[in-house]
Amino acid sequence: MKGLVLSGGKGTRLRPITYTSAKQLVPVANKPVLFRAIDALREAGIDEIGIVVGDTAAEIRNAVGDGRRWNAKITYIPQEAPLGLAHAVKISRDFIGDDKFALFLGDNCIEGGVNNLISDFASSDRNAQIVLKKVANPQQYGVAELHPDGTIERLTEKPRQPRSDLALVGIYMFDQHIWEAVEAIKPSWRGELEITDAIQWLVEHGYRVYPYIHEGWWIDTGKRADMLDANRLILEELTPYVAGFVDRDSQLVGKVTIEKGAEIINSVIRGPAIIGEDTRIINSYIGPFTSIYHHCVVEESEVEHSIVLENSEIVRIPHRLEDSLIGRNVKIHTSPMKPRAYRLMLGDNSEVGLL
Ligand code: G1P
Repeated sequence: MKGLVLSGGKGTRLRPITYTSAKQLVPVANKPVLFRAIDALREAGIDEIGIVVGDTAAEIRNAVGDGRRWNAKITYIPQEAPLGLAHAVKISRDFIGDDKFALFLGDNCIEGGVNNLISDFASSDRNAQIVLKKVANPQQYGVAELHPDGTIERLTEKPRQPRSDLALVGIYMFDQHIWEAVEAIKPSWRGELEITDAIQWLVEHGYRVYPYIHEGWWIDTGKRADMLDANRLILEELTPYVAGFVDRDSQLVGKVTIEKGAEIINSVIRGPAIIGEDTRIINSYIGPFTSIYHHCVVEESEVEHSIVLENSEIVRIPHRLEDSLIGRNVKIHTSPMKPRAYRLMLGDNSEVGLL
């Protein structure tokens, strides 16, 4: 089987962070969401992986490279515009050929692996397999209605009045019959070729589409709150280790990972939390569900339930930082300069909550 990961899209709900980087490269528990998707495919034994890229192609290529890190062969497939998931599949035909493949949306995080799902599909005579998850807000997703015997009755993309609470998770498996389906469907009201419509086409034409209901957690990481949720859940699963330096005046409580080259000086880190490579935490408190990425400095400050991206500095801030997603190269500090005032330089669409 091959793997196809979709990593286009503009990430508008994560601006300003996504003005300068792809949303799939935002790290949760110090690993980009996209890398987690590639990990999942590798764990399932797939080593030929295509990545469909859009406007952020350069950054994605830069971060992922040729796949050597995963011992996999990565092929980049440029999509000229975000014309839908089924369009992304359509333009990947040369890469996939007649092989079966797993399609993974590069911004989806799911609990546990997908090994069993993929091996079940590989050895079955099913034409497609979808993953469903019970959600509170089905109108935001593709929705599946099932017959009483558990087979699929109908799939609808973002219905206004959903007739079921089973959302389509961004992980799909197909055989070569999908090519006929993606050719047959027409763009939806949002002008996109919907993968949901292509699967509905398979159902209508009598192909075997197997719905698997996922019981663990699943997060489609489009917004800050979703990123923080995914971060919290993954940190809880992480096996902690200490590869950096922790001085005698510091305390690590619970599941705390300190990556290589990090330094913890006279600080308390209460897990689950992860401190990235070469990051320095000095006279500070890092609270649960916090991920600080590499080459950051936190000094005389408190941070909790937050994600901080690389090269950022948080120095002498008078109140605890919480529920925050801080981008790259950000500096937050107090200043002794008079008059006492906030001095900000914020990108477009920034959000700041002051006390
Ligand atoms: C896409 C699919 C939708 C699916 C969702 C999962 O939505 O169209 O069916 O439920 O991914 O993340 P989109 O991200 O394009 O809004």
